[in-house]
Amino acid sequence: MPSVADLFETMDYGPAPEGDGPVRAWLDRHQQGTFGHFIGGTFTTAGTLFEVRNPATSAPLARVTQGTDADVDAAVTAARLALAGWQALGGHGRARHLYALARAVQKHARLLAVLETLDNGKPIRETRDIDIPLVARHFYHHAGWAQLLDAEFAGYSGVGVCGQIIPWNFPLLMLAWKVAPALAAGCTVVLKPAEFTPLTALCFAELAREAGLPAGVLNIVTGDGETGKALVAHAGIDKLAFTGSTEVGKVIRRATAGLGIKLSLELGGKSPFIVFDDADLDSVVEGVVDAIWFNQGQVCCAGSRLLVQEGIADALEEKLRTRMERLRIGSPLDKSIDMGAIIDPVQLQRIRTLVDAGIAEGAQVWQPTWSVPESGCFFPPTLFTGVSPASRIVQEEIFGPVLVSMTFRTPAEAVELANNTPYGLASSVWTENINLALDVAPKIKSGIVWVNSTNLFDAAAGFGGYKESGFGREGGREGMYEYLVASWKAGAAALVDAPLPVPAAHDDGHTSQSAAALPPIDRTPKLYIGGKQVRPDGGYSVPVSGADGVAIGEVGDGNRKDLRNAVAAALAAKGWARTTGHARAQILYFLAENLAVRGTEFASRIDSMTGGGGAAEVEHSIARLFTYAAWADKYDGAVHSVPIRGVTLAMNEPIGCMALVCPTSHPLLGLISLVAPAIAMGNTTIVIPSERCPLVATDLYQVLDTSDLPAGVLNIVTGARDPLTRTLAEHDEVDGIWYFGPRAGATAVERASADNMKRTWTEWTERDWTNAARGEGREFLRHATQVKNIWIPYGE
Ligand code: NAI
Repeated sequence: MPSVADLFETMDYGPAPEGDGPVRAWLDRHQQGTFGHFIGGTFTTAGTLFEVRNPATSAPLARVTQGTDADVDAAVTAARLALAGWQALGGHGRARHLYALARAVQKHARLLAVLETLDNGKPIRETRDIDIPLVARHFYHHAGWAQLLDAEFAGYSGVGVCGQIIPWNFPLLMLAWKVAPALAAGCTVVLKPAEFTPLTALCFAELAREAGLPAGVLNIVTGDGETGKALVAHAGIDKLAFTGSTEVGKVIRRATAGLGIKLSLELGGKSPFIVFDDADLDSVVEGVVDAIWFNQGQVCCAGSRLLVQEGIADALEEKLRTRMERLRIGSPLDKSIDMGAIIDPVQLQRIRTLVDAGIAEGAQVWQPTWSVPESGCFFPPTLFTGVSPASRIVQEEIFGPVLVSMTFRTPAEAVELANNTPYGLASSVWTENINLALDVAPKIKSGIVWVNSTNLFDAAAGFGGYKESGFGREGGREGMYEYLVASWKAGAAALVDAPLPVPAAHDDGHTSQSAAALPPIDRTPKLYIGGKQVRPDGGYSVPVSGADGVAIGEVGDGNRKDLRNAVAAALAAKGWARTTGHARAQILYFLAENLAVRGTEFASRIDSMTGGGGAAEVEHSIARLFTYAAWADKYDGAVHSVPIRGVTLAMNEPIGCMALVCPTSHPLLGLISLVAPAIAMGNTTIVIPSERCPLVATDLYQVLDTSDLPAGVLNIVTGARDPLTRTLAEHDEVDGIWYFGPRAGATAVERASADNMKRTWTEWTERDWTNAARGEGREFLRHATQVKNIWIPYGE
C-alpha cells in the first residue's frame, strides 16, 4: 500500500468513472438506440440505418437513419410550414421558448454530457464543465436577443428557413451556436448533425419537444455528406450555416453561388500560439495543454502552431515534455483523465498520415513514454520541433493532438509567421507586457485573439474567422445579423441590366446636345491607379454614349494587367488602415468639398449620360460623403461582458483590399455609396465604375488628386464590367468584393470567390440609392469590416 507521500510523488490515482446508466436507459427507450429523423415535432420511422460507435471502445452505440433527398424535403417543408406561426409569436414569445430550452439543457445537463462523451469520445470533464454549460449559456443569451429583437434590430426580419450543417467535434455546442440565434431571429431550422455524432442533437430535439417548442420549428435530419449535399441543394432554404472543413466549405460556397441565400461558413484553422520571452512559462504550459490537447486537438481554433521567442524555446519545450509525460489518456468517462479518444479510425489515420509526413520531412517528433490504450481510437500528445514554416505539418490542419513548434526573434517576425497561413480563425499571445500584446493583437489576421489565455468562448462574443477560416460570426450582435435581412428587401424588384447601347462613332459628325457642353479638347482615356492617371495597358479605349445614344467620349479599356497593378497599388496602401478615423473623415469631407466646387460640371455630365437628375445626384453624393465622414470615427467596436475576470474587445477591422463593382444606375451616387463606407473603414479599393456611364468616374480623377487621398486607396479601372469583375473575383490578394449588378454576374463572383474565401456582398435587386434609409448606413459599414474579438483576462 503506497503512503500518502508516495502518492504525492507519483500522483497516481485510481479510476473515477461517471456512470452511463441514464444514457443507456434513454437509448433503450428509443428501440434500443434506433432512430429516425426528427421532423415536424416527431421521430420518423427509421429508414436505412448506419451505426454510431463509441470511439473509446469501438462498440456500437446506436443506429441512425441515413437522410435521403425526400427526408430533407420533408424537413424543409415542415420548417416552412412552421415559419409563419413562429414569427407571429414575436420576440417575447420566442424569448420564452429559448429560455425554456436553456432550462431544459440545464435540467438534463448530466444526461447530455454523458451522451456526448459516449458519442464523441471527449472527456466527461469537458462535456460536463465546458460543452453543456456553454450550450445553456447560448440559449439564455439568445433568449435575450429574441426579447430585444424589435428594439435592437428595427427594420430587420428573420431570413426564413435555415439549413444548418455541423461537425462532430462539439456536436451539441455547434447545434446551440446555430439553432439559438436562428430561433431568436424568428427563423425555423433543418439541422444535419455530423454522421459520427448525431445523438445529442436527437436528444435535444426530444427535450425541445418536451419543453413545448412548436412542431416544425426545429427539425433534425441525420446522415452523412450526401444528406448534407441534399440540404445545400434544396431550393426551399433561405440561409445556410456550415461548420466543418475548409474543403467542404468551398464546395458549399460554389454550390450556393447565385442562389441568393445567406451563407455563413466557420471553417478550419491552424492557429498560432505566440510566446514572448517575458511570458510566465508555467502558465504558458497550461495554456498549451488547453490549446492543443483540449478535445484531443480536434478543435477548429486549436493553438496548433507554437511560435516561441528564440531565447526561451529550449526551456519551454523541456517544460512541455515534462507536462506531456504527466497527461492522462484513457476512458473519456473517467473524470480524472485529460485526453479521450479520437472521433473515428478515419480521423486517426488522417492524423497518423500527417505525423508520418512530418517525420519524413525531417522534423523531430516527441511523444510521452507511456502508451495509449490499445482498443478504441487513441493518439498520444505529440510535439514536433525543428519544423520549417513551409512543411505540411505547419501548413495543414491536422485536427489531432499534434503541436508544431517554431522559433522567432522579434515581434515583427512573430506576426509574419503567425500570418503565414491561408487560415485566420484564432490566435493566442503570451507576454507579461500588455503593451506588446495589444500591439501584436491587431496585426494578426484572425477573428479571435486570446491574450495570455486560449480557447475561451462565450455567447456574447462573436466567433468566426478571417481569410480561409470562413466568414460570418456566431454569437453576439454580429451573429444575429447572420439570420436577419432588411425587411424592405422582401419586396425589392430584380435588377434588369439592359444591353449596353452601341454608340455611334465619336467622330462621325454627330454631336449630341449634351456633348456640346463638354470641353472641346479631346482627352486620352486613362485609368486611375496608385494615385496616378495611367494609360490602359492594352492601349485600347471604349466609346461611351450619352442618354440619346450618341457618342460623348471614351474611357480606357482596362485589362488583367491593369487590375493586377491596381491590386498591387491597393495592397501597397495598406497603411490607410492605420490612419485615424478623424484623418479619414477629413479626407472624405475634402472630397465632398471638391466635388461641390465642381458640382455643376458633374451634374451636366450625369445629365448627358442618364438623361437627367444630375444636380440631385451630385447633392446626394455630397451628402453621402458627409455621412461616411461622420461614421469614420464613430463605428466603434464594443467591450463585451463575458463571464471571465477580464474584458473582450470587439474591434471592427477593415476587410483589407476590396473590389467594388458599382451599380449601373446612378453613376456617381452608386460609386460614392460603395467607395465612401469602404474607405471610411480603412479599406483600400479597386473600383469598376458603371459600364454604361463611366465618365463621372474618370472626371473624379481630378477631384481625387486634390483631396489628399493617399495614392492607392482608391483605384479606378474602366472597361467591360464582367471580365474585369471575374479577374478581381479570382484574384487571391483581393480580400472582399461587392457586386451590384445582374444575377449572372453575382453568381460568377460568388463561385470564383471560393478559391480564397473572399468576403462577398452581391445584390441583384433594385436599391433606391437616393433613399438614405436604404442607400447608406450600418449595413454598408458591417460589410466593410470584420469583427476581431480580443480577450484580455486580468488579475494576478
Ligand atoms: P467535413 O467538413 O467533411 O464534415 C462536416 C459536416 O459537413 C458533416 O456534418 C458532414 O456530414 C457534412 N458534409 C460533408 N460533406 C458535405 C457536402 N459535400 N455538403 C454538405 N455537407 C457535407 O469534415 P470531416 O470529414 O468530418 O473532417 C475532415 C477534416 O475537416 C478534419 O480532419 C478537420 O481537419 C476538418 N474539420 C474541421 C472542423 C472545424 O470545426 N473547423 C470540424 C470538422 C472537421
